Amino acid sequence: MNYDIALIGLAVMGQNLILNMNDKGYKVVAYNRTVSVTQDFLNGPAKDTNIVGAESYEAMVGMLSKPRKIMLMVKAGDAVDAVIDELLPLLDEGDVIIDGGNANYPDSQRRSIDLKAKGIRFIGSGISGGEEGARFGPSIMPGGNPEAWPLVKDILQDISAKTKDGQPCCDWVGSDGAGHFVKMVHNGIEYGDMQLIGEAYHFMKDLLKMDNAAMQAVFAKWNKGDLESYLIEITADILNFKEDGEYVVDRIVDKAGQKGTGKWTAINALDFGIPVTLIGEAVFARSLSALKDERVVASGILQAPPAVDLSAEQAEFVEALGDALLASKMVSYAQGFMLMREASEQFNWDLQYGAIAQLWRQGCIIRSVFLDDIKRAYDRSPELDSLLIDEYFCGKVGEAQAGWRKVLAKAIEVGIPTPAMSAALAFYDGYRTANLPANLLQAQRDYFGAHTYERTDRPAGERFHSNWTGAGGDVPSSSYDA
Ligand code: 6PG
Repeated sequence: MNYDIALIGLAVMGQNLILNMNDKGYKVVAYNRTVSVTQDFLNGPAKDTNIVGAESYEAMVGMLSKPRKIMLMVKAGDAVDAVIDELLPLLDEGDVIIDGGNANYPDSQRRSIDLKAKGIRFIGSGISGGEEGARFGPSIMPGGNPEAWPLVKDILQDISAKTKDGQPCCDWVGSDGAGHFVKMVHNGIEYGDMQLIGEAYHFMKDLLKMDNAAMQAVFAKWNKGDLESYLIEITADILNFKEDGEYVVDRIVDKAGQKGTGKWTAINALDFGIPVTLIGEAVFARSLSALKDERVVASGILQAPPAVDLSAEQAEFVEALGDALLASKMVSYAQGFMLMREASEQFNWDLQYGAIAQLWRQGCIIRSVFLDDIKRAYDRSPELDSLLIDEYFCGKVGEAQAGWRKVLAKAIEVGIPTPAMSAALAFYDGYRTANLPANLLQAQRDYFGAHTYERTDRPAGERFHSNWTGAGGDVPSSSYDA
């Protein structure tokens, strides 16, 4: 048989990817563990297409041209290993398995190495864009065994989103877990962007006393400038959306869910020692929102600052909010790219940051015009330490900082929580400060634990210990950084 690829897992993403591949002329075998799901798909969305179904892995594998290409769209975690274990005895050396779910990247690192030893070429690929992206062009972030890439490059690039100048939003990211790492950071940035938008909404709604129509107009306007992005666009749509004559957003309980990828980003930031503070705050903001019952009780107990009505200054605060949003977003992306740079160095992935910005330019949830600016920054300087010091970003943040500070000063004064915007500004101020108070902190560590310190007047790496009390010894503790 000569089918090009098989896809296992017919939930909505899997079905839509198959339909997308079929549109592009590929012959696809669909498989789902529950056979009736396959039948419903073939008789429904896949009717009158070239898509066929298989009722067993044996039948599926037998229909594929070699080397076989099999894509998994099953729940991340144990289910992926279970499917791979069942497939292995049926495959031949050189066959390709692609995991397109939201895997945690260490799992993709492990699978890539284990499967290579068994002669199977593994790809762990981030896929972003939700249902619609999968159907008409997602952003695809493949990593894993580089030998697999030439075999699936055409299919994956053909089904991916394209930039305005026709470049595919799909390219090889790097070896073993690189694709899923980059997808994880994408999702972390997604959490950050969503939290920033939420903070702007909160400020406009509670402090500027704007109604949904007025806020919708602001987001629609922002979507025509530097902030133009999918998430700003859908926020405008959401604010406008009514069912039975009522705004749906006003009826939604303010408790955020999360499936874990933002949390993984924050955990990795801590593990790598990279200050990805905004995403961390965005994850915690979701956790705080989920404590709804406690918040309701506390709202009747804890004192608030005196109420303020800023409606008379609405226009100027809306403008400042746009600046605060843009500057915070720039910090967030700078932090996300710092995390990728650290992982790339530690795992030898050789990540190409401009290329990653291009992968995210269309098709994914964080798509925005702003990614073109990031691409340009890395084209100018591929080894840039931080996006913030690129000439474009440096200038933009500098222009936006007055509005950013104005919004945050007011938010703090009146008690509107702005964890992500505030974290961004604290990072900005910390990053641009040559002398932080960590000298005092090092003194404290040496005082109570003989942890030693470096001196400003001596070469880096030389360690000193002081006998702070006259009663301490001269013996330093071992000196290492976790
Ligand atoms: C995407 C999304 C997608 C999904 C996440 C977010 O890139 O298409 O990021 O992966 O929406 O699962 O989920 P949570 O908000 O539930 O963590």
